[in-house]
Amino acid sequence: MDDLADQRDAPPAEREARVEAWTHALQDDLAAGTSTDPVRHALVDTALRWHLDLSSLRGAMTSTREDVRGRRFADWDQWRAWCTEEVVPWVDQLRHLFEQAGAPMTLRLDRHKDYEQFVDGAQLTDILTDLSTDLPQGDLLLPHEALVAFPGVEDDLRQGRWSPATAALIGEMTALARQWLTQPAMTRGMHPGAAIVLDTVACLMRAQLDAVDAAGPALLERAPRPTLVARARILAPARLRARLAWSLTPLTVPGPRRPSAPLSAVSPAAESTALRPPPPHPGGARPPQIPADRMPAHVAVIMDGNGRWAQQRDLPRPQGHRTGGPAVHEMIYGALEIGLPHLTLYAFSTENWKRDTDEITTILDAIRHDLDDGPLRDLDVRQRWLGHPDKLPDELVHALRREEHRTRNRTGLTLTVCINYGGRDEITRTAAALAQAARAGDIDPRFIGEDDFARHMPHPDMPDVDLLWRTGGEQRTSNFLPWHATYAELHFTPRYWPDVDRRDLWQAITEYSRRQRRHGAAPLIPARDDASASLSR
Ligand code: IPE
Ligand code: IPE
Ligand code: MG
Repeated sequence: MDDLADQRDAPPAEREARVEAWTHALQDDLAAGTSTDPVRHALVDTALRWHLDLSSLRGAMTSTREDVRGRRFADWDQWRAWCTEEVVPWVDQLRHLFEQAGAPMTLRLDRHKDYEQFVDGAQLTDILTDLSTDLPQGDLLLPHEALVAFPGVEDDLRQGRWSPATAALIGEMTALARQWLTQPAMTRGMHPGAAIVLDTVACLMRAQLDAVDAAGPALLERAPRPTLVARARILAPARLRARLAWSLTPLTVPGPRRPSAPLSAVSPAAESTALRPPPPHPGGARPPQIPADRMPAHVAVIMDGNGRWAQQRDLPRPQGHRTGGPAVHEMIYGALEIGLPHLTLYAFSTENWKRDTDEITTILDAIRHDLDDGPLRDLDVRQRWLGHPDKLPDELVHALRREEHRTRNRTGLTLTVCINYGGRDEITRTAAALAQAARAGDIDPRFIGEDDFARHMPHPDMPDVDLLWRTGGEQRTSNFLPWHATYAELHFTPRYWPDVDRRDLWQAITEYSRRQRRHGAAPLIPARDDASASLSR
């Protein structure tokens, strides 16, 4: 993106359009799960495989696009704010990736300054490297505060003159960048693999600064690059060390992704011989074709109405829970068939302990039975449990953890079952975890942001809920996923849970696919057209 914004062959408006087109193409590619552009393909594949949420990059991308119009910074503080906006979200993605691989790139927040300076050093290196491109376009991305110390340097640079003042400024800036990039304590305590990556990046950037220093007047003609030999001297031993480090520590590496929906064949995951596709719908129903960019990534379901289903038939309430079992399986089959990546089911809430022991026992026994020899065992489903072990029978907790472990490398559908789950409980515990981290000196309360909160949740990689569906006619969320569902589309249907099947899930997704989500932005099309478009449907 940086290259697209900098290309000298096009006027600013066109470069801005190119960056914007690239960003849009990335969004389309993410929805499609693939790309014809090799860079985007790598990014899409990584994001989907490692369940990264790239939405946090939006701000950084917009900022890069706006760079094309030129920037001026009065002082280092302004300059630093821009760096943070543009670079930190990318670094954070890298951190998430390492975290999910089981090799956390732990950033001790008492080292927060080191980390910020490192990012600043990287950005300053980039700016010095790109002077020959930026200056002819009228861009000088160093803060005024840095230039005033060298009288006349701004004019010299804008005229492309290599004066003593220019040489002195460049010398001082490379020294500053070198100092910022040299943060020996930054990688302390990290997984050695992650530490080697960061240390190597720092070495490469210092080599880049050597090339800037060595370039002299040529710096204003073309971007200097370190020699191949200089790079090889850094990369060859780093690769060896990295290979050793990674070989000593087992990583959680997601398998290849299955082809996008509908699921036509068994996933080629590691256990492919044992995995099978879901049984077809008894009536032969097939999933609707939903355009990839209209598919939700995460559907969460409040499975409500078991008790009323039974009461309506003069049966004891527990009977409703037993009858509701097949509907749970149906949802999972339907999710696999339509190619949904995340399905989360609300099975037992922290408030449900208020019910009769009989009813509670029936609900928990049904869950336990499914885990032991239910029809889900050999589907391409990664099973996860969200909730708290308190008060749950030990064998159930054990079975939940066992299934989580057994299915951890599956890539088809991530099924999260919420058992003894409460949204407020989750938020309270997350706040407690953050407080604990602050007390241990791992995090500085002044810098706690939404990302930090999300990282301390029980499943930090769980994406936001796109569609929240409740059966049974009630229109409330009953303490379900308050953090993840803030922007969910809501869908309420009257039928009781035992009466629904996969077609209801498909219907919910079809309706979702027609909604326009805004996330607080202005509508994409004028309201009039919006209304007439929905009327014509
Ligand atoms: C949902 O069905 C299942 C659980 C809460 C475990 P209910 O048991 O709440 O059914 P209704 O709402 O009473 O009909
Ligand atoms: C929510 O349903 C919990 C589950 C479906 C597990 P409830 O039936 O317990 O919710 P309320 O009491 O109607 O709000
Ligand atoms: Mg209920």
